[in-house]
Amino acid sequence: MSDSSLVEQAKDLRAALLQHDYLYYVLDAPTVPDAEYDRLFRQLQVLEAEHPELQTPDSPTQRIGGRPLPAFGQVNHTVPMLSLNNAFSLDEVTAFDRRCREGLDEPAIDYACEPKFDGLAISLRYENGLFVQGATRGDGTVGEDVTQNLRTVRNIPLRLVGKDIPPRLDVRGEVLMLRADFAQLNVRQRARGEKEFVNPRNAAAGSLRQLDAKITAQRPLRFFAYGVVDVTAVSPAPTFHDEMMNRLASWGFTVAAERAVMRGAAGLAAYYAEMAAARMQLPYDIDGVVYKVNDLDDQVQLGFVSRAPRFAIAHKFPAQEALTTVEAIEVQVGRTGALTPVARLAAVFVGGVTVTNATLHNEAEAQRKDVRVGDTVSVRRAGDVIPEVVAVILEKRPMLGEHSDAPLHPPFALPKYCPVCGSAVEKLEDEAIARCIGGLFCPAQRKQALRHFASRRAMDIDGLGEKIVEQLVDNAIVKTPADLYKMGLTSLANLQRMAEKSATNILAAIEKSKHTTLARFIFALGIRNVGEATAKDLSRYFGNLDALMRASEDQLQQVPDVGPVVAASIAHFFAERHNIEVIEQLRAAGVQWLESEPMALTVAPLVGKAFVLTGTLPTLSREAAKEMIEAQGGKVTGSVSSKTDYVVVGEDAGSKLVKAQELGITLLNENQLKELLAQ
Ligand code: IVH
Repeated sequence: MSDSSLVEQAKDLRAALLQHDYLYYVLDAPTVPDAEYDRLFRQLQVLEAEHPELQTPDSPTQRIGGRPLPAFGQVNHTVPMLSLNNAFSLDEVTAFDRRCREGLDEPAIDYACEPKFDGLAISLRYENGLFVQGATRGDGTVGEDVTQNLRTVRNIPLRLVGKDIPPRLDVRGEVLMLRADFAQLNVRQRARGEKEFVNPRNAAAGSLRQLDAKITAQRPLRFFAYGVVDVTAVSPAPTFHDEMMNRLASWGFTVAAERAVMRGAAGLAAYYAEMAAARMQLPYDIDGVVYKVNDLDDQVQLGFVSRAPRFAIAHKFPAQEALTTVEAIEVQVGRTGALTPVARLAAVFVGGVTVTNATLHNEAEAQRKDVRVGDTVSVRRAGDVIPEVVAVILEKRPMLGEHSDAPLHPPFALPKYCPVCGSAVEKLEDEAIARCIGGLFCPAQRKQALRHFASRRAMDIDGLGEKIVEQLVDNAIVKTPADLYKMGLTSLANLQRMAEKSATNILAAIEKSKHTTLARFIFALGIRNVGEATAKDLSRYFGNLDALMRASEDQLQQVPDVGPVVAASIAHFFAERHNIEVIEQLRAAGVQWLESEPMALTVAPLVGKAFVLTGTLPTLSREAAKEMIEAQGGKVTGSVSSKTDYVVVGEDAGSKLVKAQELGITLLNENQLKELLAQ
């Protein structure tokens, strides 16, 4: 007999899974990430396997999917829509390969490898090449009739094309939404004041299960085929799964472009690695890859076990979302003083790494998501993106849930004063970001500024990492970047955990950094809104630092891609006495680069002149003309106004020419433009 706590545990797990099934399949509104559902499911599976007496006929482990929505008609799947067993590690994949080899008594097996689409499983029926019925998986045996909705999916062939079309064909595959389409749909939803979708899969599910097919028709759904129910209905009979897939493609179905046939466990591992690396660049979301024994006779021989085939397995990627709790919400101060709320989390394994911090972006985001200390949250880490809090699981909030003795924390708000230096926090209207106004007085900003200055793409000072910069600032050894060049061996070697050898190396790296380029130096200064590309543009345009420092906002705006905001940031930076002093000290310390004459101010006669191009020029392309004008400091804009100096007119010029004539602006043809440029 199991003890009563195990009985309780199984009961709780069943209740939780049933509730999540309902939210997911019936309401299309899941409240927890899939990984959490999988975890509970596995927990129940393990419990039931160890204590079979705990199993009940209505346990979610005994059922394949959700229940069909009563609003749609029902479709009986002649062959049930099963699911795949999952592998979460290479060991599990190797074991799968071993089972297949043993079952078939073959030394090495070829597998058809495919992406595992993260959408909804669909079955399509064709009679004499005509699409007659489409259904969702439902509970695996009975699905929902969504034929009308599927007819609106643009890449589902309504009539098959090509040769050897079987009289009756059931195609299985996945309906999904491409990432780009999903992003656009959400922009539209937002513009209309309607609810945004959490991810492409939920958007696809919500769109397909609309009772009004007109709504589905407005949603950009796609269908990707991954198999056929009964290959014996196909003639000539295919021998391999990948051959069947090619046949499907020839009849007009979309199939994954990333398919491959691979041999043995090593081949599967290679495919997995390749797809894991390509994942973020794929046009659709995938949550793993699928391996299928390629030989169709071998598939029949291996057969099925309970709810899944023996001849196929899904190799899942590490979950990108997981649940954890918020232990604290701290406020970080960035290089430009921006305050970012960061949730400190109970450690959780997500996206393949252990995560203990997640960004809340800014105050408004933290408040919109209403994240509070003590909350259970779902955390997402996709690719190399900074982990972020996706949402609060409100049912688990202390006071609201069963843990009612825990205190309820107040909503998050940013402090009025910088948590590091105590300066005021300022938030400009129309800006989401609040900033500490302390500037380089604020140790947090100073540290970030120094780390930026030393970073690889800036002055490239090897070895000057976070821990060292922290100590240098905290011990008041370094206040500005110029102080780096004044440090001696002893002050460095006295830092904690600093061997004399590393101190010597750092000093050598600092010495080496003195020979740099103007672009790197400009970037290293950390002027707000001046990234690497702008720094390069400024360096190319002004040629030397003094010309840049003297430039007015107007002159700065003559640099391609520098607009009023960036120009103001630069002018503001060089207007600060303190910044000029640091630059002078850096130069005095021997920081140097190759300087040249400013191209803008001496050889650029067109500085400050605005051009508009209209019509087709006889020899120059629009791009070429634009480049030539910009190379001499001129600016090309899109519309004619009183600020326009010249309108360059080609053939078939239209309303811009009329406007220019009305405003009395100088008109140039191509030859006249060339003459002007040659002056
Ligand atoms: S083959 C017997 N191939 O994964 C089942 N399924 O757990 C045969 N899925 O919801 C399924 N991509 O819709 C197969 N390339 C692929 C797939 C795929 C996604 C889904 C399928 C089902 C789940 C199976």
